[in-house]
Amino acid sequence: MAESWLLRGVLPYGEGAPVDVRLADGRVAELAPGLAPGSSRVLEAAGQVLLPGLVDLHTHLREPGREDAETVETGTRAAAAGGFTAVHAMANTDPVADNAGVVEQVWRLGREAGHCDVAPVGAVTIGLRGEALSELGTMADSAARVRVFSDDGLCVSDASLMRRALEYVKAFDGVIAQHAQEPRLTVGAQMNEGVVSSRLGLTGWPSVAEEAVIARDCLLAAHVRSRLHVCHVSTRGSVDILRLAKARGIDVTAEVTPHHLLLTDEAACGYDATFKVNPPLRTQDDVDAVREGLADGTLDVVATDHAPHTSQDKETEWGAALPGMTGLETALAVVAETMVLPGRLTWRQVADRMSARPAVIGRLEGHGRPLAVGEPANLALVDTGAAWTVDPAASVSRSRNTPFAGRRLPVRVTATFLRGARTHGEG
Ligand code: DOR
Ligand code: ZN
Repeated sequence: MAESWLLRGVLPYGEGAPVDVRLADGRVAELAPGLAPGSSRVLEAAGQVLLPGLVDLHTHLREPGREDAETVETGTRAAAAGGFTAVHAMANTDPVADNAGVVEQVWRLGREAGHCDVAPVGAVTIGLRGEALSELGTMADSAARVRVFSDDGLCVSDASLMRRALEYVKAFDGVIAQHAQEPRLTVGAQMNEGVVSSRLGLTGWPSVAEEAVIARDCLLAAHVRSRLHVCHVSTRGSVDILRLAKARGIDVTAEVTPHHLLLTDEAACGYDATFKVNPPLRTQDDVDAVREGLADGTLDVVATDHAPHTSQDKETEWGAALPGMTGLETALAVVAETMVLPGRLTWRQVADRMSARPAVIGRLEGHGRPLAVGEPANLALVDTGAAWTVDPAASVSRSRNTPFAGRRLPVRVTATFLRGARTHGEG
């Protein structure tokens, strides 16, 4: 018989009085106080917050090519531990996910692992070289049903190519997720360009490199009436431009990472390359702006940019280290710390930013659905009284490069369910 669970005493969206929730046949079967266990397995979860399973628009799973840093199996296990029931797997693998063969392979590996659904992202350009469009339509028609296309890690900087990509994906309701960064302005860049980079003597990455491409791409998307998604927004100017674009009715969405919500470029002061990331950690003023943007909906979603790297690639001098940080296991807790506890977002809004909207942007069916009877039982349970200290050694990711090591975070995901089957948790 299929797994059936009774979650006892939970608070849907953290609201109202406690209820019991029965999961059966992969769906939410009942939602009411005082349900009898019957043949269901009981999970005592009094007072825990029940959320729809989280959906990540931006995860690097590293397979194929860098299985020493992460595999689809380990990365999706980390996702489940963080409350995610679906992740979009970025295309900058080796070989690059720029054809149906690779995206189908990643999709199949995700299905076999079974920890969460994997929606492969297709590369916009062949080999991420920014010269010629990949076979976008073939990837869209493949078993992986690709809808999100990105050269993430690199910017599609050629305006004409970007225009054609935006036009092309309209045929199958796809979206271009841009790593917005004018490459001519970031040659040799190591961290945010500002007071701290001058003090440390590291080459800076100016805000304008991000903002200029976002402005250009919003105008391009409007011109061809297509859909643009902006990856990992990190500056106040970017938030301002997106606010203006949305006010003009341009079909643009944007994401912010947990690390850009919490950390600043001051973290670089110890030259610990754990804090090296692309785009870089910015100033407190930028942090304030992305928090405001997420609160008012200018930034649609939180996406992790989970970027696992081996210790060889991270525990080296700043200049040689690869950019990126892990994020799946800590994302919800960082959002609680930066947005929920200070009263900037309710849990219902967190569900919107981390589940509903990313599912809509990625055109993912069966995810991001409301907590209601009859819906697929893709769920995350959050203990809001279980502060914990981040221990990289305890991570289920294959990599250890979390910027939150040793930090105390206020809430913890205790269980995750994918179509009614538990993918994380114990007891
Ligand atoms: O820091 C980053 N790491 N930024 C990116 O855009 C790519 C990512 C990676 O693949 O490691
Ligand atoms: Zn990126």
